[in-house]
Amino acid sequence: MKKVLKIAGAIVAVVIIIILIGVTIISVRGIPTYPVEQISFELKSTPESVERGRKLASVICANCHANQETGKLTGQQMMEAPPEFGTIYSANITQDKTYGIGDWTPSEIAYLLRTGIKRDGQYAPPYMAKLPKMADEDINAIISFLKSDDRMVVADPTPDKPVEPSFLTKLLCNIAFKPMPYPTATINMPDTSNTVELGKYLAINLECFSCHSADFKTNDFMDPEKSPGYFGGGNKPLNRAGQVMLTPNLTPDQETGIGLWTKEKFVKAVRSGIKEGESALAYPMMPYTMLTDAEAGAIYDYLQTIPPIKNKVERVVYD
Ligand code: HEC
Ligand code: HEC
Repeated sequence: MKKVLKIAGAIVAVVIIIILIGVTIISVRGIPTYPVEQISFELKSTPESVERGRKLASVICANCHANQETGKLTGQQMMEAPPEFGTIYSANITQDKTYGIGDWTPSEIAYLLRTGIKRDGQYAPPYMAKLPKMADEDINAIISFLKSDDRMVVADPTPDKPVEPSFLTKLLCNIAFKPMPYPTATINMPDTSNTVELGKYLAINLECFSCHSADFKTNDFMDPEKSPGYFGGGNKPLNRAGQVMLTPNLTPDQETGIGLWTKEKFVKAVRSGIKEGESALAYPMMPYTMLTDAEAGAIYDYLQTIPPIKNKVERVVYD
């Protein structure tokens, strides 16, 4: 009996030592770095691409990178990132050469947006958007805009605040989250005459799926439809006061999703945040004023085609 206890004690001790070594390695190693491939992204900037990029950046990047008072993309504390990720600040991505990304080449920006690897090789954790599925033309539009003279991106010398990722973020970035491969073939724009195709493109690339699926930690950016609880809601972003919000189920389930919603109701909710007879949709669900009725309607058409998930999410309203 004594011998059994001794062996068990030794096993426990070994396990504890292994865990301690693992914790130390990950704490010291931090967010991993990766080799940066040399790609060549040829920027084709036209007034149309800048305008399209402005729209995409307003819908996707501004949410995280815009200063609330000035509207410039100088970065802010990301209140909606769950605290278990650490204390997170988005970066200054204006054209300032010292504090912003004014001296990043289009290829360096494209490489980060596609793979999640910054130009110094450091991996950008999941609280920074990744766009592996976006059409080349739209990536070109976003970079054209970042390099334009628009007031959102004119050089602004606001220094970045250092991000303090939690141990959990470091752990997950070492074992679970991996950079994505830089695409080897052209990614084309969706066929805009097919509303389901267009809606799928928008629902994935405007990051709707990332908030409206089960959990930020389990989203699959390479294969979004394989994300656990794809559009089934229940994810818990925070509002600006740090309170937990719950994302609604947007699958076509008739009882717990939007199966019985009309397209008009959906378009109104998405574009203006208004739900008849209820308080307005609250942060971090921002009114998508830049989307047209046809685009929001296309997202609706697509969502009606995905597998329904039964998941009742009670709305939380703070006053
Ligand atoms: C969900 C929030 C979020 C969204 C959306 C987002 N970002 Fe970021 N971004 C961040 C955070 C947070 C960082 C800092 C990450 C770090 O330092 O590890 C960052 C870092 C960056 C950097 C690196 C800057 C530097 O100096 O290292 C660039 C470039 C960037 N973002 C561009 C963009 C663009 C362009 C878009 C829109 C297509 C975008 N981001 C969308 C949160 C976001
Ligand atoms: C940053 C996270 C986030 C993103 C990105 C996001 N949503 Fe939301 N969405 C939410 C939250 C949280 C709510 C609930 C707000 C509330 O209860 O006031 C919500 C509510 C909604 C609702 C209302 C549903 C209902 O049952 O009341 C619709 C419709 C919706 N979102 C569609 C979209 C679409 C379409 C996109 C992409 C264009 C999108 N959302 C992107 C977080 C997000």
